[in-house]
Amino acid sequence: MKLRYFLHLSLYAIILYVLRFGSLQSEALGVNWGIQASHPLPPSVVVQLLKSNGISKVKLFDANSSVVSALVNSDIEVMVGIPNDLLSGLTNPSKAVSWVQTNISPYMSSNVVDIKYVAVGNEPFLTSYNGSYLNITYSALVNIQSALNAAGYGGKIKATVPMNADVIQGGDAPSASIFRSEISALMTQIVQFLNQNGAPYTINIYPFISLHEDSNFPVDYAFFEGSQTPIKDGAFTYENVFDASFDSLIASLAAIGPYGSMKIIVGEIGWPTDGDVNANVDYAKKFNQGFLNHVRSNVGTPRRPSTAIDFYLFSLIDEDLKSIRPGNFEPHWGIFEFDGKPKYELSLSGANGQVLVQASGVKYLTAEWCIYNPNGGDKSKLGDSITYACENSDCTSLGYGSSCNPYLDAAGNASYAFNQYFQRNDQGPGTCDFNGLGQVVTKNPSKGSCEFMIQILEPSLAGSDQFNGGGLSRLWETSTSVILTLIFMTSFFLWSI
Ligand SMILES: *[C@@H]1O[C@H](CO)[C@@H](O)[C@H](O)[C@H]1NC(C)=O
Ligand SMILES: *[C@@H]1O[C@H](CO)[C@@H](O)[C@H](O)[C@H]1NC(C)=O
Ligand SMILES: *[C@@H]1O[C@H](CO)[C@@H](O)[C@H](O)[C@H]1NC(C)=O
Ligand SMILES: *[C@@H]1O[C@H](CO)[C@@H](O)[C@H](O)[C@H]1NC(C)=O
Repeated sequence: MKLRYFLHLSLYAIILYVLRFGSLQSEALGVNWGIQASHPLPPSVVVQLLKSNGISKVKLFDANSSVVSALVNSDIEVMVGIPNDLLSGLTNPSKAVSWVQTNISPYMSSNVVDIKYVAVGNEPFLTSYNGSYLNITYSALVNIQSALNAAGYGGKIKATVPMNADVIQGGDAPSASIFRSEISALMTQIVQFLNQNGAPYTINIYPFISLHEDSNFPVDYAFFEGSQTPIKDGAFTYENVFDASFDSLIASLAAIGPYGSMKIIVGEIGWPTDGDVNANVDYAKKFNQGFLNHVRSNVGTPRRPSTAIDFYLFSLIDEDLKSIRPGNFEPHWGIFEFDGKPKYELSLSGANGQVLVQASGVKYLTAEWCIYNPNGGDKSKLGDSITYACENSDCTSLGYGSSCNPYLDAAGNASYAFNQYFQRNDQGPGTCDFNGLGQVVTKNPSKGSCEFMIQILEPSLAGSDQFNGGGLSRLWETSTSVILTLIFMTSFFLWSI
């Protein structure tokens, strides 16, 4: 009798678990959380945003203590980062030990953060770095992992290096891919170390960049809806460039040793929404939803079929201080705007799931915009004023192919530039002057897809009592558990009488 109850109880518990947590085999949803913004959202607001969207893993680009502290007891898994400019210092083992002491140890015993990886550098072997990090990355990687091991965290926390996809020299087919010849020995050394340590290889994959850099790149091959020109590679057929890039890495790993089945993490993948002819909401939605459906269905890739893919979307929120050297699209990778509003409908759990939920508790500056005043000031200074405004804010939405281009005339351009500067400077006194050419208005000048922003209120300017998210969702989670337990106990009681 007892045994029967016990079996019943176990079965019941399993059913509840599956109901509560959904499919057990799909990889958890990850995103990149960068803070290169003039007005970053408060970390507590972002953590609440992650939770309300069911995002359970984040990848950071540094170990900023306000950000990592906001993740204490959040149940969100974390990859912290080490920026490239710290790598040379970390070739000194004692510096690596103190980096771990400062940035990892405080979160391991009390104030626990679920740190699982340390990203050592970020795409250090990009050709645009002219080889600056070639001879230091391996040594920094080894020193960080050794410091983690010495502190007793090595079993849980693995060091890895997020690599740009072009460390690989593409052949005509994924199977012909190898690591670039001039870094092949170095890559072998790194891969050997990662593998021996049970750490993953991390690759960033950007179909958008393929399209951006090569106008002959077949557009449909960037997405996930089938291709007119699939690539045949022996027994495999590639319908999208993501699968081809992933399998190119597998082929490259297999070419240097017994590494073809290593764990792989897709460190960054995504599509920007502005600043380029191919960067818009339609393409971003099509790419991200196509990718999410692809990975959430666990089909894997031709070389790793029926496998869950571990990934971090790039990116969570727009960052207006990102360098635009690679292109005007750089500030626009977020699935959320700078203020935590979703840019488009996207179901993170795959087709037909819940769409994005916006950030709560965000406070804004006054509803005032700065625009060009055609009746005032010194018109000969207009060009200089626009240049000054744009150099000290973000005008990447004005160019050809961008969201404001079809909607603004020359005066509209001036207004947009003035407003960007005005908002960047918190609508401060004198920041809408421009030699008398600017004026403050209270009617929203936005046109079509061209949005004139109101900047968010910086917490330092706002007093201290806001941004108190978190409580509600914790209450909800607790009550869900209580209800499930009550249902369980009641039915167990009914069953047993
Ligand atoms: C963390 O990031 C915030 C926002 O960018 C910044 O203001 C702060 O100075 C950073 N803290 C540290 C310790 O670097
Ligand atoms: C790399 O070299 C180019 C050309 O010499 C130079 O313009 C660029 O600033 C260099 N980049 C870095 C990161 O050193
Ligand atoms: C890396 O190379 C630079 C320039 O060649 C050299 O100054 C530096 O000492 C090297 N660093 C290491 C860790 O080997
Ligand atoms: C507005 O500015 C953009 C970016 O500088 C430029 O490409 C566009 O031609 C301008 N529009 C007008 C009507 O001057």
